[in-house]
Amino acid sequence: MATAIILILIVVASVLFNILAPWHATPAASNWGSIDTTQFITLIMSGIFFIAVTVFMAVAVMRYRHKEGAKAAYQPGNKKLEVWLIIVTSVGIALMLAPGLVVYSDFVRVPKKAYELEVVAQQWQWAFRFPGQDGKLGRSDIKFVDSTNPFGLDPKDPAGQDDVLVLNSEVHLPLNQPVKVLLRSKDVLHDFDVPQMRGKMDMVPGMVSYFWFTPTKTGKYEIICAEYCGVGHYNMRGHMIVDEQDAFDQWLSSQPTFAQTVATAAKPSRDSVLEKGRLLVEKLGCGACHSQDGSASLGPGWKGLYGRTEQLADGSSVLVDEAYLKAAILDPKARRVQGYPPVMVAYTLNEDELGALVALIKSLGTARQGDELSTGEASGSGDDLVAQGQRLAKSFGCLACHSVDGSKGVGPSWQGLYGKTETFADGTTIKVDEGYIKETVLKPNTRIIKGYAPVMPTFAPSDQELNALIAFIKSKANAGADASKAELGK
Ligand code: CUA
Repeated sequence: MATAIILILIVVASVLFNILAPWHATPAASNWGSIDTTQFITLIMSGIFFIAVTVFMAVAVMRYRHKEGAKAAYQPGNKKLEVWLIIVTSVGIALMLAPGLVVYSDFVRVPKKAYELEVVAQQWQWAFRFPGQDGKLGRSDIKFVDSTNPFGLDPKDPAGQDDVLVLNSEVHLPLNQPVKVLLRSKDVLHDFDVPQMRGKMDMVPGMVSYFWFTPTKTGKYEIICAEYCGVGHYNMRGHMIVDEQDAFDQWLSSQPTFAQTVATAAKPSRDSVLEKGRLLVEKLGCGACHSQDGSASLGPGWKGLYGRTEQLADGSSVLVDEAYLKAAILDPKARRVQGYPPVMVAYTLNEDELGALVALIKSLGTARQGDELSTGEASGSGDDLVAQGQRLAKSFGCLACHSVDGSKGVGPSWQGLYGKTETFADGTTIKVDEGYIKETVLKPNTRIIKGYAPVMPTFAPSDQELNALIAFIKSKANAGADASKAELGK
């Protein structure tokens, strides 16, 4: 009896919860009311089955409860009942699935007049691209990606030159214009989701997925990543602002084209070469055998390697310079450093790629080289360095966890961080200076500031990049100082 009552109460409470709970879907701001209808059908179908099954259980518990002397009748099968169950279940499932299939085929059948918007995801930020004047998106390939070309656009494709790039997480769209959304990921699985648009789809590395919608209400809507993609996932947000056509046009014209971003980043920086080297290391898997932090590994570590004299297996010695490194990559077994097994395979790389790898190894080189580097670059003004640091912070993805406006993130906010005294988990304190920032970027989880989790991945920026990052963090110091002064004044 008690069990039957509990079962009935569960049914009543579930139905009431669905009707009375304040958490309902926001009104749709796009043409996809049909998606809501589909969901409603699914809710009703599964609701009916849930109620029927649970009420049946309650009745069965009451009616067939144990009685003294009663014996259960043996019934090995009931064909008629089975046939009915199969029919009813099949019809129920078909009723739930069919509307979804119809709506989904609409969802990916893009009307001809739709314009294109490309969304590019990476841990843990969004970026957007519009086709520009010619109405055509230029070709892209992951091999073109570097810090000056984050979208990986083919620099030789004329269709890409006028593409409009939106290098932050906020995109505008014109009202009542159908848009085809092309989704691309640079690293792992993400999912583009704008709840009010009822538009949502996985972004799979290596392919372009798409759907379309027409925004029907102006306003600001949140873009969220709906697929767990690493520690910064929860913070992978953006905004979609639906404007009247005029306001949209004005906004769009204020965004740079691909050609413009290339021109501004044109000073052939050591940066992009290093970035290229780093991508190659990732692609070829060099890091499996060659460490970059001086730790022991299967092959010679790269830290401090450049400019060193090494003993070779045949007893001779060699100065590790550009020529030797290139030869060693192309034919690793010919002149092998003593003490390492002859396991490296030969790589066929072009001169450009070899140069990038050598530049990367050089950047991890001796202290002498490091000094040359920083003086070489110091000619740039302080502002340049800050801008460069900001770009690096973006391309490394630092900003997913470190805010620059003082808001709380996975890691300490950079606003007002420089010069502040922080307390570590073990109770000791430190004044945040250049030395500490360097330490914590290169070996993030050795000394953790109290209240933060040890989740930061290790980065291996060059000295020059590190200096740029520090300059950027430093530039955020004052904002915080002003804020705390204001607080003191209160
Ligand atoms: Cu990107 Cu979760």
